[in-house]
Amino acid sequence: RGREEEAADGLPPLERLRQEAARCTRCPLYCHATQTVFGEGPDQAAIMFVGEQPGDTEDLAGRPFIGPAGQVFDEAVTGAGIEREQVYVTNAVKHFKYEKRGKRRIHMRPDAGEVAHCRWWVAQEIEIVRPRIVVALGATAYLSLTGESRPIAEVRGMPIPMQEGRMLLVTTHPSAILRMPDAELKARSLAAFRSDLLGVKRLH
Ligand code: URA
Repeated sequence: RGREEEAADGLPPLERLRQEAARCTRCPLYCHATQTVFGEGPDQAAIMFVGEQPGDTEDLAGRPFIGPAGQVFDEAVTGAGIEREQVYVTNAVKHFKYEKRGKRRIHMRPDAGEVAHCRWWVAQEIEIVRPRIVVALGATAYLSLTGESRPIAEVRGMPIPMQEGRMLLVTTHPSAILRMPDAELKARSLAAFRSDLLGVKRLH
């Protein structure tokens, strides 16, 4: 679309993108999900967090990071002195991928093809919001943002330069913390996550 055409519908670019994403059929995940869960936050946010994909709660509500992982995320963000209302929060994949077990819908990790199809939306979100810092929450977000598959431990904690002077920081995914069966490991992993978010605040 040309600029004149964009101006004609009078919508802010992020809102227009959200409406387009609501009709997305770029990959088959839309068939079974309730709705597209698009990013949320100020369209000039300095910090953008990218998760993996919406969970069960997010799929039903249509908003990112509002379920159990969202609670871990919120608490760590707030604890680091960052206001959630000030940051843009989105996901690498915008539809919930799951398998049914009885009545329950169990999260399934999106594959590289699904991530590649959905990358188009994330790239547009970055283009419009122009954050100074992008935080990848986990390996799927890292794959979406860089095209590389890497263990988080290899890239965690050190700022990676992106285009336009933007910095990418990588940390764990809050759901990965919740899934840890061992209490001590879980506590350590949560502490490391909180510490990474303090690093985001320092860079900010
Ligand atoms: N996990 C994610 O990656 N994103 C959400 O929005 C919720 C859980």
